[in-house]
Formats: sequence, C-alpha cells, structure tokens
Amino acid sequence: MFPLRRNRRLRTNETIRSIVRENVISPDDFLVPLFIVEGYGVKEEIASMPNYYRYSLDLLENEVKELWQLGLKAVLLFVKVPDNLKDNKGTEAINPNGLMQRAIKLVKNVCPDMLVMTDVALDPYSSYGHDGIVENGIILNDETSAVLGQMSASHANAGADFVAPSDMMDGRILTIREALDQENFINTGIMSYSAKYASAFYGPFRDALDSAPGFGDKKTYQMDPANRLEAIKETQMDIDEGADIVMVKPGLAYLDIVRDIKNEVEIPVAVYQVSGEYAMLKAAAEKGWLDHDAVMLEQIMAIKRAGANIIASYFAKDVVKLIG
Ligand code: PBG
Repeated sequence: MFPLRRNRRLRTNETIRSIVRENVISPDDFLVPLFIVEGYGVKEEIASMPNYYRYSLDLLENEVKELWQLGLKAVLLFVKVPDNLKDNKGTEAINPNGLMQRAIKLVKNVCPDMLVMTDVALDPYSSYGHDGIVENGIILNDETSAVLGQMSASHANAGADFVAPSDMMDGRILTIREALDQENFINTGIMSYSAKYASAFYGPFRDALDSAPGFGDKKTYQMDPANRLEAIKETQMDIDEGADIVMVKPGLAYLDIVRDIKNEVEIPVAVYQVSGEYAMLKAAAEKGWLDHDAVMLEQIMAIKRAGANIIASYFAKDVVKLIG
C-alpha cells in the first residue's frame, strides 16, 4: 500500500528496469519466413511487404548464411509456384525435385544446423488458390489431408526438420503423423497452425506467393475471428493427434487467444505475426507516422509477453540487428 510501496522505485533508471524486466527478446525467439522462387539471381521485393524479398535458390544461400550469423536458427519455407505447375490436386507439391524439396536440401547443405520448417498446404500449388482439393466449390477434407501427408513425407525425405501444416483441414495432424511414421520419419516434428483464423491480415502474403483464392474465401476451414473457445478445442485436438508445437495466427489482434492457449497446454506455443501486420507498420513508418524500430520491438515484446515461445516474424532480422 502507498506510501510504503512506491512502484516507480523499480523504474528509476535503465539498470533497475533491466534487472526486474519480466521478458527479454533474443534471436532464439524467432522463426524466419522465407519466400522462394524459381530462377537465378532473383531477389524481388514484395510490393506490399517493403524490404521483404522472394529469393531464387542461389541467392537464398547467402540469405541463410546471413541469418545464421545473426543468430537466427530457424526458417519457415514457402515457395511461389509457376502457374503452369498448378493444378487442383497439388501434384507439384509432392514432386521430389520440386522447388520446396530443392530449397530444403539447399538450406541443409549450406547450414546443416539451421532448423528447417516447411509450410504444408496446397494453396501455392492450387489452380484455385485454396488450401485443399476443390470439388463443386467445396474444399474436400480427407482427400486433402491425404495429399498433405504425402507432401510432409516428401519434405521430410528432402531433410525438413519440421513440417508446418497451415491448411486447417480436420484431422490432418494425425494423417501427417501417420504418413511420417510410416516412412520412418519418427523424428520429424509437426508444428501445427492450430488456431488459424480466416483473416484479412494475410493479404500481402497472398501477393507474395500469388496464392489468393480464385473463388470464395477460406471461411469453411479457417476459424471465425469471433471465436475463442474454438481455438482451445482446435489446439487440443491437434495435440491429441500428435502436434509437437501449436500455433496461433495472426499475432497482435489475437493475443487473448495466445494467452488462453498458453495457459491451457504443455507444449510450445508459436505465434505468427503475419504479413498484414508487417505491412501496416511499414506503411505507417514510411509516412513518418510511427517510429518503426520502437513499434516493432514493442509489438514483438507484446507477442512474447502474451505467451509465445516461438515468433514467426518478417521483422526477425531487423529485430536481431537492433538488439545486437
Ligand atoms: C497458406 C498460408 C498463409 C499464410 C501462411 N500460410 C495464407 C493463407 O492461409 O491464406 C499467411 C502468412 C502471412 O500472412 O504472413 N496456407
């Protein structure tokens, strides 16, 4: 009680503040999303994601080395698939010589200790831009999961440490676990996008991969932003099916969900600070309306404080450079 307690004592200067600080950001917090394209010497800036690029494999090599030197130890790979290789069934997704499979090998080759996680979903491969196989305007569930299982085994075979299914089909974690185990990839982990909302914050990402849905939206598989208990149900089911890490996505607008889940589960919780969150800060900073670096750190800290053990963020490199 005041005046016995004066809370400002613990805020007097940076030394005492740093001693009592409850959360600290470090390079170990991050998972770095990487966008990969076919070609040679390609480093294309994504229009709606300033200072974020798609790399061809030759230039990905340097990028991965730089990340490792900065202390960033985990990457999450996404590929932009040429239109002529897209179809309804995601055939290219299981091509052993596909771009993803080559990218996994390349990263493991240049940087064997880098943790390689791969996005598992059909949307970049789908002629419809949906995360699953489409029939009469419906996204098929079990048929899609079966392909995701094959895709996961194919990534594991190329050397992926973790697969990260981002599709939100029911039961796909079990199907993937079984597909991995069947081929003896018992140590390949699954980071499930467990509570993934149908969010308009994914817009810039869909520009990056040219993967926007060709019809309709993703509301029959991604979650309704109005729901909170459903996030816990989804997450518990994924854990029961064998997920090693669960995820909440997007980040900032869903930190209540992050805390709910953190309080509920015993396994690591990842949070994806998505492309739209990145774009908003970049745009405001470009206009001189927000202090880019200060807001960036505050946002990452907010995600960590909410309960994130792992943060997938397009700001990862900027943050670790800043905190040195
Ligand atoms: C694909 C996928 C998406 C994101 C990650 N994996 C887009 C979507 O579901 O439409 C979004 C990432 C971001 O916005 O940064 N299934």
